[in-house]
Amino acid sequence: MVELTLPKNSKITDGKVWDKPAGAKNLREFKVYRWNPDDGRNPRVDTYYVDTEDCGPMILDGLIWIKNKVDPTLTFRRSCREGICGSCAMNINGINHLACTSGMDEVKGPVTLYPLPHMPVVKDLVPDLTNFYAQLRSVEPWLKTVTPTPQKEWRQSHDDRVKLDGLYECILCACCQTSCPSYWWNSDRYLGPAVLLQAYRWIIDSRDESTGERLDDLEDPFRLYRCHTIMNCANACPKGLNPAKAIAEIKKLMVERQV
Ligand code: SF4
Ligand code: SF4
Ligand code: FES
Repeated sequence: MVELTLPKNSKITDGKVWDKPAGAKNLREFKVYRWNPDDGRNPRVDTYYVDTEDCGPMILDGLIWIKNKVDPTLTFRRSCREGICGSCAMNINGINHLACTSGMDEVKGPVTLYPLPHMPVVKDLVPDLTNFYAQLRSVEPWLKTVTPTPQKEWRQSHDDRVKLDGLYECILCACCQTSCPSYWWNSDRYLGPAVLLQAYRWIIDSRDESTGERLDDLEDPFRLYRCHTIMNCANACPKGLNPAKAIAEIKKLMVERQV
């Protein structure tokens, strides 16, 4: 049997229970993962109480309220508050989702927040997405052409444009990527659902002239074929996209070009 020695910091301990806001009538309990790489302490889960009458209805509103009113050291990413930038993705009561589009009333019991799973953590709720972005760059997610650039624009028929529906809407939040068991175990070599969805988005773009090279690049036992159609990715996507289907379409193209 394999024996593993866990690093000293691997245990999550009970954290601080912060004071309830004075005079608040309607409170919501938040349990939030805290880890500061600079203090040498174990990760912990802190408990906060949010005054819901002094705060917007979404989970991101609760986090911003805590940061402004209770604990300015709490660290998380956010930008648009509209489900567009993807930066507030985190694990909410066990499910990867966007904090800005998740209502506090959609969660039963305490709102429990952890960073996206199976990624290194920068601090508190902020995952380190360096590897994810490097993998995205590796599929060259931009239009690649060899014919001279037209004077006005690269034209596309309506039917070809429709083929990009369900793909172009991806906001690169990494909810799917970090809910994929194959990616958990092979994130150094498997590209993962979000990156493969992006790869497919350019493979089937009628204006792109690098389809063959793009497929060659994915013809690899790990980069593409670690997907085992477990479908966690489709269940996790906050935009309702289906990366597993995009991956299946790439595999189909791989077979078609052999015959
Ligand atoms: S379908 Fe493929 S990419 Fe999606 S979760 Fe399963 S293994 Fe991962
Ligand atoms: S496919 Fe969905 S879950 Fe995955 S990165 Fe794009 S928007 Fe996020
Ligand atoms: S803050 Fe931009 S998606 Fe949530």
